[in-house]
This record gives sequence, structure tokens and C-alpha cells, in this order.
Amino acid sequence: MYNEINLDKIDINSTLPTEEPFRQYYFIAKGREWVKTFQQKNGHLPKFCITTFGCQMNAHDSEKLKGILGMMGCEETEDEAADIVIYNTCTVRENANQKLYGHLGHLKNLKAKNPDMIVCLCGCMMQEPHVTELIREKYKYVDIVFGTHNIYKLAELMHIYFATSKQTIEILEQSAETVEALPQKRKYNFKSGVNIMYGCNNFCTYCIVPYVRGRERSRRPEDIMDEIRMLAKSGVKEVMLLGQNVNSYGKIYDYSDGKIVHIPHEERTTFPELLKMVCGVPGIERIRFMTSHPKDLSDELIHVMASEDKICKHIHLPVQAGSSRILEKMNRRYTKEHYLGLVDKIRSTIPDISITTDIMVGFPGETEEDFEETMDLVERVRYDQAFTFIYSKRTGTPAASMENQIDADVVKRRFGRLLERVNIIAGEQLKRYEGKIKDVLVEDVNAQDDTFVTGRTGENVTVHFKGSKELIGQTVAVNLKECKGFYFIGEQLQ
Ligand code: SAH
Ligand code: SF4
Ligand code: F3S
Repeated sequence: MYNEINLDKIDINSTLPTEEPFRQYYFIAKGREWVKTFQQKNGHLPKFCITTFGCQMNAHDSEKLKGILGMMGCEETEDEAADIVIYNTCTVRENANQKLYGHLGHLKNLKAKNPDMIVCLCGCMMQEPHVTELIREKYKYVDIVFGTHNIYKLAELMHIYFATSKQTIEILEQSAETVEALPQKRKYNFKSGVNIMYGCNNFCTYCIVPYVRGRERSRRPEDIMDEIRMLAKSGVKEVMLLGQNVNSYGKIYDYSDGKIVHIPHEERTTFPELLKMVCGVPGIERIRFMTSHPKDLSDELIHVMASEDKICKHIHLPVQAGSSRILEKMNRRYTKEHYLGLVDKIRSTIPDISITTDIMVGFPGETEEDFEETMDLVERVRYDQAFTFIYSKRTGTPAASMENQIDADVVKRRFGRLLERVNIIAGEQLKRYEGKIKDVLVEDVNAQDDTFVTGRTGENVTVHFKGSKELIGQTVAVNLKECKGFYFIGEQLQ
């Protein structure tokens, strides 16, 4: 599937292929004709700018969009005064939505200066019907709108837009098929995200992701392995396996009559098995994954992480809250005690592991005592890093209609206390690496001082050390000399 496709061999005057991904390659080939005409008219190739909001899934989707536009012959720019502007949106919290509307105002001004500019919106927020309605009615200068299930159709949607000159909106309820083997353009050529599954079936009561990303679907292990082998051949050393709940990878469901029915399947590949398979790919040096749901984390996973050197000693294990009462209302399906037990098991099997988390404050009905349980959990676990969020009401989720929504001032005070504590603990935790020698994969030249480079250890610790751009993409041994709060100044071993 990942063989090179030669666009020159596609006859765009022949009939449209019905099968994917060939249908999309046909539209990409057609897009190249548009690029040629554009260049003749304007004296330069069309420039595109993609802004990504949200999580790693969205960032990876943006790489797919960049791949499609790049293959068409468009050029990437970071300047929003471009010929094609795409916002890949997130809707996990209300402020993510607000940010988009702010940006759209700015785009209107840019489009007034360049009326030929193509404005596209895509991603999670577009899966909400009230958003697309608003765009249709009030944001007429937005040209193309699509959702999370048809990212791969960008070239086709552009074609429809060129043919009709009308606002083109296509939102699918659920993926009809998972289209593989389309181009991707990575930010770094030595590391890459790899989707192993899409969607989510957990329905945590606060969360909108299952509604905008659809039902959980695992990719076939053969397809994942093909992709990773292809990435390794092209120089990728680090892969990040992506899914909303990677620990339930491989489960098979029947969604046919609207219910979610789990079909037990003895031959399914589990997540730890998949990890072991990925470890066998020559050229892949580091394997990360995101995100682990505590309810599905197995002993097998802990043992595979402990025994395979290539798997980074870092686990992101979102806890959300410390109170078992609140966890139940969140539908997280674990208790505080179970979570603490997991952390103990992980740490006793993989002693130096870095554990990070997501925590939310202000879930409906959260009392002072519930919040103290969260503070207590934070003291006991001592996270290496914790992403803290204020609960945000998402229309359509069960929590949005729960009683006892918490007063904003109370939440702010709790949030402040939590943030201060998690930051102090993270700083103290980081110090334990001081003086240790770790392998660092170099990512960039330091933005402030170009005699330094920046990279990460397997534990995801950021390290700056003397070096030049030739080191980018290389793994080098570095002494973590001095802890500077959230990062290290290191020294490369000779
Ligand atoms: N699938 C991942 C989480 C994806 S969303 C998991 O279950 O761990 C990333 C984070 O956003 C969540 O962990 C949660 O802390 C936060 N989040 C999700 N919905 C939210 C909401 N309504 N308000 C505030 N934070 C939210
Ligand atoms: Fe949202 Fe829960 Fe699914 Fe994570 S597991 S994406 S928090 S519903
Ligand atoms: Fe946001 Fe969608 Fe990710 S809602 S957090 S971009 S899955």
C-alpha cells in the first residue's frame, strides 16, 4: 500500500476511480493542474498555512493535510497571509472554541486583501452541528468545511469548491471506511506519530471526544506495521503510537444496531503485543504512546514496558480526579485506590519511570472534600508533570446537565492551589535525574542560543546542551548536569 504513487501516470481525463485511496490520488493529480494554472497567473506556487488546535491526533491529521497539499505542489508557510489557510480545530474545552472565532475575525481581514484566498475549517469542532450551522449562516467567507472523518478528502473537496465556487461543507457522522496510504508531511523527519486507533467508546461524562471522533476503531496490525516499516526506511527513529485509549487497542465491536457490543476475539492483537511487534522494526529506536486509560492498563503492558529497551520509560496516565465519588460520576470506571495501586505496580516494576497525568477541577458536584482527595492523590503519586484543566461544560455531554455546576471563583481558587502544588512537585521530581547520563534524541537548534541544541530523553525530559545543527535527528549520550526547573542543561559525552 505504501508504494510510491506516480501522479504523472494518472490520467485525469479518464473516469474517476471508485476505490480509495486511488480516488484521492486522482483528485490530487487534478489539484496539480490547478496549481500549474495558479502559478502561471500569480507567478508563484500556492502557499498554504495550517494552524492546529488540540491534541496529538489533530497534529497528526494536519500532517496528512500537509502531505496532500505538498503532493499537489503547494508550498508550506507559517504566514497566515497565504493562498490556502486551514484551521484544524479542537472543541475539548470552551476556550478552544473561542480561540477559533477570534482567529476567524483576523482571517476575514486577510481575505479582504486577497479575495482568492481559500479558507478551510476542519477537525473536531466542525463535527458539532451548531458550529457548521453558524459557519454556513454567518461566516460566508469560509470556503471549505470538513470534519474528522474525511480529512483524507481534502483534494476532492477542493475540486468540488473550484467547480462550484460555492461554500463546500461535508461532515460525515462516522467514517464509512478508514482510508490508508495517503501522503503525510512530517514536521521532523526523525520522529512521527502513528494512528493505531480512531475514536473513543468510553463516554466519560464531561468529554465531547466520543461525539466528534466517533466510535473506537483499531487499525489492522499489518497496516500499522507497514506504515512503521516505511517510516523507519525513510529515517524515522521515534514513533508515537496514537489513540484515545491505546490500552483497548485491538478490541472488536459490533456497532450495527446502534449499540456498542464488544465481540470477544481470541486472535486479536493486544496493545502490549503490538508494542512488541513495533520493537522488532529495524531502525526504530524509541517507541512512545498516548493515551493510556487507567481502567484498561494491564500487567502485560507494564511487563512489556519493563523488558523492551526501545519503549520509552514514560507513561501518560490521566487520572482526572482524586475522589472516587467524582470518578464514578465522570464514568472513569476506576477508583482512587485502584489508580494508586497501578502507580505502585508501575513504579515497582520500572523504577525510574516518568509518570504524567491530566487533572480536572470543578467537575459538577465537586465538594471541598473531593478536591482535597485530588490534592492528596497528587501528593502521593508525585507526578513528573501534570496538565491541569478547569472543567468546561460541553453541550450534549451528560455532565453538562448535571446539577451543582461549581461557582467559577471557587474553581479558580482550587485550580490555583493545584497548579502551584503540581508545579513544585514536578520540579522536585525532575531533580532526581541530575547527574545522570541519558540518551537524548536531538530535535532542534535552541531557539535562544544557536550554539545549543535541544532534545528529549526517553522520559520526555527536555535537555539543552552545546552542539550544532548536525546533531539534529541523532541520539547522543548526555550528562544531565544542571536542573533548571522544567528542563536540564546538559553536557554531551565525548
Ligand atoms: N483520551 C484521553 C483524553 C483526551 S482529552 C484520556 O481519556 O485520558 C485530554 C484531556 O482534556 C483529558 O484528559 C481531560 O483532562 C481534559 N478534558 C476533556 N474534556 C474536558 C472538559 N469538558 N473540561 C475540561 N477538561 C477536559
Ligand atoms: Fe474523552 Fe474519556 Fe474518551 Fe478520553 S477516554 S477521549 S476523556 S471519553
Ligand atoms: Fe481536541 Fe479533538 Fe483532540 S476535541 S483534544 S483535537 S480529539
